Amino acid sequence: MSRVQITTGSSQETEELGACLGSLLKPGAFLALQGDLGGGKTCLTRGVVAALAPQSADHVASPTYAIMNSYPGNTPVYHFDFYRLRGDDDIAELGFEEYFHGDGVCVVEWSERLEELLPDDALTLLFEYGEDNQRRITITSSGQKSDMVLEQLSETFKKQKKL
Ligand SMILES: Nc1ncnc2c1ncn2[C@@H]1O[C@H](COP(=O)(O)OP(=O)(O)OP(=O)(O)O)[C@@H](O)[C@H]1O
Ligand SMILES: [Mg+2]
Repeated sequence: MSRVQITTGSSQETEELGACLGSLLKPGAFLALQGDLGGGKTCLTRGVVAALAPQSADHVASPTYAIMNSYPGNTPVYHFDFYRLRGDDDIAELGFEEYFHGDGVCVVEWSERLEELLPDDALTLLFEYGEDNQRRITITSSGQKSDMVLEQLSETFKKQKKL
């Protein structure tokens, strides 16, 4: 397990972080997005989709009512938002797990609600407000695949002097 903290100064920078991360992801990767309302989770997702399924990038919005939006591309992106799920909704019965280890990349807003359904090997991104338009994004990896992605991301950011 490792951890990297990145501060972005605008929604554009958060989207760029998403694109950089997206370009490193392989099918089966899982991004668990957590933290403040308006923290930038959907914004980062837009960047991930821009990297993996660019033809769909303009259409990224919180799938608040649908629970999941899918963006077809070379690597499809499955975008979930569990904000509106009630405590007694049984996520396991909704049948989403088949997506979690499938042909695409899963990006999940409010992944806290998944509890034990969260895959063991995932990148967790915690969004917190900073001053002005800053967002502090803490990325934690929890397995072999996600450790490798996080290592590549921090190498890229060090080269660009963003870390
Ligand atoms: N550094 C930043 N990174 C991301 N968004 C920013 C930043 N600074 C300002 N913003 C603004 O914050 C808002 C982030 O909204 P976004 O929908 O991405 O948040 P969210 O975490 O998905 O919220 P929700 O929990 O409601 O789904 C946007 O209006 C964006 O313009
Ligand atoms: Mg959102």
